[in-house]
Amino acid sequence: MDAREIIEKHNQYLFPNVSNYYQEPLVPLKANGMIVTGADGKNYLDFFGGILTVSVGHCHPRVTARVIEQQKTLVHLSTLYPMETQVRLAERLAHIAPFSQAKSFFTSSGTEADETAVLLAKVRTGRRELIALRHSYGGRGAVALNMMGQAPWRLVDSEIPGIKHAHAPYCYRCDFHLKYPDCGLACARDVETLIQTETRGLIAGMIAEPVMGVGGFIVPPKEYFEIVSGIVNQYGGLFIADEVQTAWGRTGKWWGVQNFPNFTPDILTSAKGMANGQPIGLTMAKADVADAMRGLLSLATFGGNPVSTTAALATLEVIEEEHLVQNVQAMGARLRDGLEQLQGDFPVRIGDVRGLGLMQAVEIVKDARSKEPDAPATVRVMEAAKKRQLLIGKGGLYGNTLRIAPPMIVNVGQVDDALKVLADSFAEAFA
Ligand SMILES: Cc1ncc(COP(=O)(O)O)c(C=O)c1O
Repeated sequence: MDAREIIEKHNQYLFPNVSNYYQEPLVPLKANGMIVTGADGKNYLDFFGGILTVSVGHCHPRVTARVIEQQKTLVHLSTLYPMETQVRLAERLAHIAPFSQAKSFFTSSGTEADETAVLLAKVRTGRRELIALRHSYGGRGAVALNMMGQAPWRLVDSEIPGIKHAHAPYCYRCDFHLKYPDCGLACARDVETLIQTETRGLIAGMIAEPVMGVGGFIVPPKEYFEIVSGIVNQYGGLFIADEVQTAWGRTGKWWGVQNFPNFTPDILTSAKGMANGQPIGLTMAKADVADAMRGLLSLATFGGNPVSTTAALATLEVIEEEHLVQNVQAMGARLRDGLEQLQGDFPVRIGDVRGLGLMQAVEIVKDARSKEPDAPATVRVMEAAKKRQLLIGKGGLYGNTLRIAPPMIVNVGQVDDALKVLADSFAEAFA
């Protein structure tokens, strides 16, 4: 099939919500390392990594070799049988988890990981009410959709009672019109008022992303999680860190939560970059919490699948052996510096540059003083970058935030090339 035919069949046979980037969608033929080759014969520098999922580079030879070997050995038998790759991965995770005595439950996606975490919090506490964040993204399950803090992603009216949305720690657009640090972390402290006024006062827990991904890489102030998790625990709830995007070194630390002092979640979820593109979801909890999940509760047929868990084990090895967390720190700092310089070059149109590690965002506005979001200009930047063979992502409630998150193997030359393309793309889009 040629590219045109693929696009036509995509539009004809897939649900229309399976939408593509770009006016002329890019049809990928193959990918290697940092490069995606399109059906147009061009090589694109990939600074979005399949939505932060290709963590160690496309078709990393070591991950690929192990996956192929596993495909030839054992593909599936379900969790009804103990499997070596599953227990090896769970043991590995217990050693690197941000809390002691971690136990794991594997599924196939971030949605399932989050839904499992919420179920666990409810089962463990015997309560139902839950706090989520405005601007958050939790996936496509019933609970996940109701936790969603962004109207465009919800699709249906709220169906599950008992989910309350706290103010997001979105400093650039503070709901309280305050400035950090003089704000006294009003958004964090308001969680207590929310619990006291909008719930029975007996919550199952709170779920939050260490950096709000789809929301536009919103980074909370460093004291945020210490304050909110303290409040949640005080009211008997469990704290769920949704690390679907932020784990595995992406933020410059193994876990996103490690960027926030004096904070340990009770439950942690992940997916995306964990297996470099093989489907996997992780719900991890402290043993005393995890042990509440007894009986036949919530079996996942594909959970702990030998191919996915092998890919995850290989991905974790690559991250360690290629020192990718350190690379994220160095390349993230370089990328951030470059983006801040670009903000200096376009001070009216670039309202905010933020992020951690290799998770950097640029918020595009009509005028930095009014902060009015400029979604059309954001699309123009995306198109201009694609024309120059650079792939980046987009997000944020207002559709005006560029998300820049290359695979963690990115090098100095590629960061500099991407910055040069962005400079030219901004110039074109803002002309
Ligand atoms: C923070 C977060 N949680 C959950 C999900 C849902 O993951 P999935 O699309 O794998 O179901 C996503 C997906 O983008 C996410 O970013």
